[in-house]
Amino acid sequence: MEKIVKSIQDIIKKLFDVDVEVSITRPDPNFGDYATNVAMQLAKPLGKNPRIIAEELAEALRQGGEFVEVTIAGPGFINLKLTAKTLMDNLNDIWNDNYGHNNDGMDKTVIVEYPSQNMAKPYSIGHLRPGNQGWAAKKLMEVTGWHVIADNHLGDYGAPFGVWVVGFLRYSSDEKLEQGGVYELGRVYIETKKALKEEAARGEAAMANEVQDWLLKLERSDPQALAFSQRFKEISLRHIHEVMQRLKISTDYELGEAFYVTRGKDAVKALLDKNLAIKNDDGSVIVMLDEYGIDTPLLVQKSNGAALYATTDLATLLYRDETWHPDRVIYSVGSEQQFYFSQLFALAKKLGIKTELIHLWFGLIDQINEDGTREKMSSRKGVVLMEELLDNAEKRARDMVNGRDVSDEDIKKIAVGAIKFSDFVSDRRTNILFSWDNIFALSGFSGPYVQYAAVRVNKILKDNQTPQVDTNGYDFVPEKSIILKLLDFPEVIRLAARDLEPHKIAAYLYELARDMNRYYESTPVATGNVTDVEKAARLGLISKVSQVFKSGLDILGIEVPGSM
Ligand code: ARG
Repeated sequence: MEKIVKSIQDIIKKLFDVDVEVSITRPDPNFGDYATNVAMQLAKPLGKNPRIIAEELAEALRQGGEFVEVTIAGPGFINLKLTAKTLMDNLNDIWNDNYGHNNDGMDKTVIVEYPSQNMAKPYSIGHLRPGNQGWAAKKLMEVTGWHVIADNHLGDYGAPFGVWVVGFLRYSSDEKLEQGGVYELGRVYIETKKALKEEAARGEAAMANEVQDWLLKLERSDPQALAFSQRFKEISLRHIHEVMQRLKISTDYELGEAFYVTRGKDAVKALLDKNLAIKNDDGSVIVMLDEYGIDTPLLVQKSNGAALYATTDLATLLYRDETWHPDRVIYSVGSEQQFYFSQLFALAKKLGIKTELIHLWFGLIDQINEDGTREKMSSRKGVVLMEELLDNAEKRARDMVNGRDVSDEDIKKIAVGAIKFSDFVSDRRTNILFSWDNIFALSGFSGPYVQYAAVRVNKILKDNQTPQVDTNGYDFVPEKSIILKLLDFPEVIRLAARDLEPHKIAAYLYELARDMNRYYESTPVATGNVTDVEKAARLGLISKVSQVFKSGLDILGIEVPGSM
């Protein structure tokens, strides 16, 4: 596309002696391969009728010989058609191992924060989207040239810790913890929360005070509190790492909330000194944000002096700024925290932090109940656990391959691919409707559908040797729509990265898979009625398709199985 833009720009320069931004779109294929509205754009500066500009331009474009057909539609749209062979030559010109990647983010650093699970509970479906979307954001930044730092901002501080200690001392034991690991911690947490609620209903607070005491002890680095914290953290982290490994996601750092507590308190002091924060009579500290159009002040310290979520996030902003000087920070966190992040970002402005801060938010995961109502996804036991979800997905994947010889490794790739792809079937901001049938629909807009198309391409490449012949005489006519599609890839990546919208990659890959399936129906690639030249040319093109499937799926964190 860049080449076409350049040709048009050159001709405009020659004809009218102006420099313009030329944008190119893909019209209805009946009209052309590409279209531009540049004639309308030029009407004003040139003081001319757009239709006349379009005609002059069209004539010059025809003379250039690059386009086989140049037509004008409406008030001055120019439609362009190229031969399949020219398109293939264009593709060959720009082809490389990192095809589609660009350097838009060169010399810039971005911190991408995901999935930021909370220590108190087993990894649940609640942190599926933060991981999937965060990983895709990281990949999109990488392929567009950014220096990426991935950080897991673990929820390892705050009330849960106190709840754990109190609950562990009352309802659990060393043996139980040894046996149940994080699931025992989850159980204790739920039981203790329930007891706390009952206590509050009775108008009492003994247990609640104990919880607070443990939190304060932890903040004061009391050795017993630290030992508990260390122990719970190890159990939780082991589990989190195991599940992340299954999901094939990882981060470079794990600087959780706890890391920032002391820093946060110092930062609050500094804010007070600079009169950027206000101390209330009860001792709590707030930051006014009304100059940023936000009426609710941000609470950065509790009345008992304890730090809270915002205290640690305040310190995180400062620490990252000092340590990495990021140009951008992306927080992969659900839509529920939109208001909180608007407050946090306003606070950052107040502190003079110049970093571009992005809340990469997304909708919930819903399910349809047996009675037809729709609600947030849950299981009979409550939250859906990630390990269960993955186990189920593997079962489904096994059913899907239906006895064919597929390795365990590949089953896992299919299972994880199916789950992840479903995160990208629509704009991240919409709620997902979770349905096992859709996730594994081999004929639908699903991970397995795209993976299957990639596996099929790879099998053809594996089963066939490319004849060593000159393919220059081949016209690529049956392959034209695929070539056009491959030429779209760089622009799709650019837009997906610009808007942090990985669903654009998923939609693209689905269309490529669909185009490939249509292609096989009409054209023998390597067997049957095919000449050596055709075979060599087609296998050459298909190897490019294979690369695009692989690199596109890789952005979504999905692997191509060996077979399925
Ligand atoms: N642990 C939090 C949660 O699960 C998400 C943390 C988001 N990141 C942040 N810097 N506040 O809700």
